[in-house]
Amino acid sequence: MERGKGGEVFNYISYICNMNLLIENASQIVTCHTRGQRFKAGKYQSQIGLLENSSIYVENGIIKWIGKKLPASIKKKTLKKINAQNKTILPGFIDSHTHLVFAGDRADEYSMRIKGATYEEIAKAGGGILTTVKAVRKASKAELKNLALKRIKSSIGFGVTTIETKSGYGLDTKNEIKMLEVINELKPSPPTPLQNGEGRDNIPIDIYATFLGAHAFPKDKSREEYIDEILFEMIPQIAKRRLANFIDAFCEKNYFTPKETEKIFLQGIKFGLIPKLHTNQFYSIGGIQTAVKCKAISVDHLEVMKDNDIRALKGTGIIAAVLPAVSYFIDIPYAPARKLIENKIPVALATDFNPGSSMTENIQLVMSLAVHKLKMNIEETVNAVTINGAAALGISDIAGSIEVGKQGDLVIFETKNYKDILYHFGVNMIEKVIKKGKVINNTV
Ligand code: NIG
Ligand code: FE
Repeated sequence: MERGKGGEVFNYISYICNMNLLIENASQIVTCHTRGQRFKAGKYQSQIGLLENSSIYVENGIIKWIGKKLPASIKKKTLKKINAQNKTILPGFIDSHTHLVFAGDRADEYSMRIKGATYEEIAKAGGGILTTVKAVRKASKAELKNLALKRIKSSIGFGVTTIETKSGYGLDTKNEIKMLEVINELKPSPPTPLQNGEGRDNIPIDIYATFLGAHAFPKDKSREEYIDEILFEMIPQIAKRRLANFIDAFCEKNYFTPKETEKIFLQGIKFGLIPKLHTNQFYSIGGIQTAVKCKAISVDHLEVMKDNDIRALKGTGIIAAVLPAVSYFIDIPYAPARKLIENKIPVALATDFNPGSSMTENIQLVMSLAVHKLKMNIEETVNAVTINGAAALGISDIAGSIEVGKQGDLVIFETKNYKDILYHFGVNMIEKVIKKGKVINNTV
């Protein structure tokens, strides 16, 4: 898929959205508008474009008008109306980094961690990612799909209207492709005329797929054999069948070296995949520099950043996707978000939902951690899960802010003041989640 074009998304809109929606008199609308910029960085990351006592009109899934006094041309149309008096509207949240297709669980390993074992020790002893690989290899596609569906429904309840998710628990061609097929089968698909949009088990939000064959090394192959399988079997097949938008790797001590990562990225790029990178989670070993060299769209984790990593990232336009739920859950340092922002590096926030290092689909919890642990202000945090999340997926031209011409992806909160969303922590104040002009949180 081409970066930022979203063509398949627009085809889908014409199928599902035949209704015009007017959301009236919201106390606040946090637009996160960018005036054409792909992301917000530096001081600009604190600007949220607040409107008061305003309305939004969505037609065929697209925002057509935002303002105070409804034009007569819109008044004449058949409208579904939502009264948003005393409510606050934000752009739908974008969770740009998850691993939500998995089977089994790691509750026992979690329990060991609580008693003092570290994430790295568990992985070294053959647990961790490889525990989930065993469960995923055994699971059928239908099982994986059902589990993923439940998790996505839960994400939607927290306000997510666009999500990314990865393979990476197959670690052989058959199972990596199985995972990507599951992700693709979850995608919203045009209903048949008989279904009339009802009765499908697909999800009602946009989902982007990332190929993460280079997540860990499988036990049954040599390093070289596995890398060759990624390069010459997996990537060509995945690209030919257009099963993924992005290619990712875990560039880390005991996982993939910067050289191996580069080789895999160059092959991915050759086949039309856009690089994203798991890097600097435990050590700074040159992942950032590799990502810059390969023009990655985002670098994710960044808990351990040296000054030269920050310098390498500065001015590249690569999104720093930080994942504070991982720091909380496996007790590692928090990413230096303030330093990133001071250096005008655009910061996104995501859940990294996965069974080992971040067992949560709650993006609002991630926002709370960002404010209290990363010391990001409320406005920076809101932009990090909206417009900068969109930029991490190359879709800021269609999503991530409330602007005329963008998708009608909106979250209505039961409060008059957007600050309450973080102030009243641990509580979900969402009333409605709207995807392309359709209320979805009570229907999934
Ligand atoms: O983003 N760091 C590598 N991968 C995942 C964890 C995967 C797992 O533990 O299952 C992450 O944290
Ligand atoms: Fe991850």
